Amino acid sequence: MNVLADDFMITQLGMRKAQVRRVKDLNGVTLSPVEGEEVVYKVFRDVEPVHQYDLRADVTVLYPGALPDGEFYRTHGHFHPEGPWGKPWPEVYCVLRGRGKFLLHDLERVYVVELKEGDVVKVPEGMAHVLVNDSDEPLLTCNYVSKSVTPDYGRVKALGGPAAFLTKDGIVLNRNYDVKEIKVCKPLPLNLDSLVATHAVKPSVEEWLTCFPYKG
Ligand SMILES: [Fe+2]
Repeated sequence: MNVLADDFMITQLGMRKAQVRRVKDLNGVTLSPVEGEEVVYKVFRDVEPVHQYDLRADVTVLYPGALPDGEFYRTHGHFHPEGPWGKPWPEVYCVLRGRGKFLLHDLERVYVVELKEGDVVKVPEGMAHVLVNDSDEPLLTCNYVSKSVTPDYGRVKALGGPAAFLTKDGIVLNRNYDVKEIKVCKPLPLNLDSLVATHAVKPSVEEWLTCFPYKG
């Protein structure tokens, strides 16, 4: 089994077939209109036996590359719906292999998080999230999220994509947003073995990331 090349994965829960996303599937949420059959990324959903914690684990394989206008290959991006306590569901991402960026944003803020193998990032409450591969090798991540979450792709699509586009020429803002703040961030060192404990004692954005103003 080669997760980079194959569209299936054998897991403890059985065989999982990847959801494959091609260039044409991103049309409407990219800096410029796009078409094409090239595979940008694929997602294997529900790959770990974590249901007893009300969680689902997914693996994403994001290939290196760029669209014709220079925007790096990336995932579609989505927001999360609110949980029963009235705030959006959280999510944790782990980098299994490779390098890239995690674009976190809402209507006014953009955080560009630098990712490397072993990093763990909690999606700040209410922020949409997009994986970007600006490297020359595949980026593999695993994410943990409640089984109850159905990602909201429609809100991102209605806004013509994320709040910012990462291109070979730098960051290009999406005019449908009112971005007032752009920061470049790094994940703080975390111990994967004590993820739950870490989550409990580091609940805020600032304690998961170190951020600096983006200087262009
Ligand atoms: Fe998510």
